[in-house]
Amino acid sequence: MADGKRRARLAILISGRGSNMEALIKAAQTMQDYPAEPVLVISNREDAVGLDVAQALGVPTATIPSRGRSREAFEAELDSRLRASGPGVVALAGFMRILSAGFIAGWRGRIVNIHPSLLPKYPGLDTHARAIRAGDTVAGATVHLVTEEVDSGPVLAQAKVPVLPDDTTETLAARVLEAEHQLYPKALADFLQQRTAPGDTFRRS
Ligand code: GRF
Repeated sequence: MADGKRRARLAILISGRGSNMEALIKAAQTMQDYPAEPVLVISNREDAVGLDVAQALGVPTATIPSRGRSREAFEAELDSRLRASGPGVVALAGFMRILSAGFIAGWRGRIVNIHPSLLPKYPGLDTHARAIRAGDTVAGATVHLVTEEVDSGPVLAQAKVPVLPDDTTETLAARVLEAEHQLYPKALADFLQQRTAPGDTFRRS
């Protein structure tokens, strides 16, 4: 970069639409001094629409199928493909596989995820339906570090949106998703900037 700052190499894991991936890539490509550089998008599904989006944005992609093979085989290939591109941070963006404790241990403190609820509320699936059913008036999204327990790692940032009286899961999901697209690039940038404070031992590109 012109100012001499190093940017963390960023790998993004997806399974589908990839709109959060797109928000991360666009932030990195358009925001001056954004502290991450997308170097690879990996999907566990070859039909993921996000692969086309990433390619159109000029980011290399790979498909590592998870279906029809053991978790060990899938994760071994994922791990070696990731290591080959040397990311300083791995962002999960609608990646629909649960990673094993062993895999996560190998990337400790370097995997982040976005989840469509205000964790610790509603880990897992169907978050919007659960929020509506519970009569919540506020919903949102959380960016967190990935640890062995699903959707339970330290929270890095959250965004809140109102739940409106006539919301359906679709209207609420759309409102939360819009907030996610703002939240994830900002939370990732803050995380990377904080962890490069003196004493930081993470590998940078
Ligand atoms: C998002 O709602 C995200 O929070 C969740 O899965 C959805 C992925 O959407 N983890 P997209 O693929 O980023 O469009």
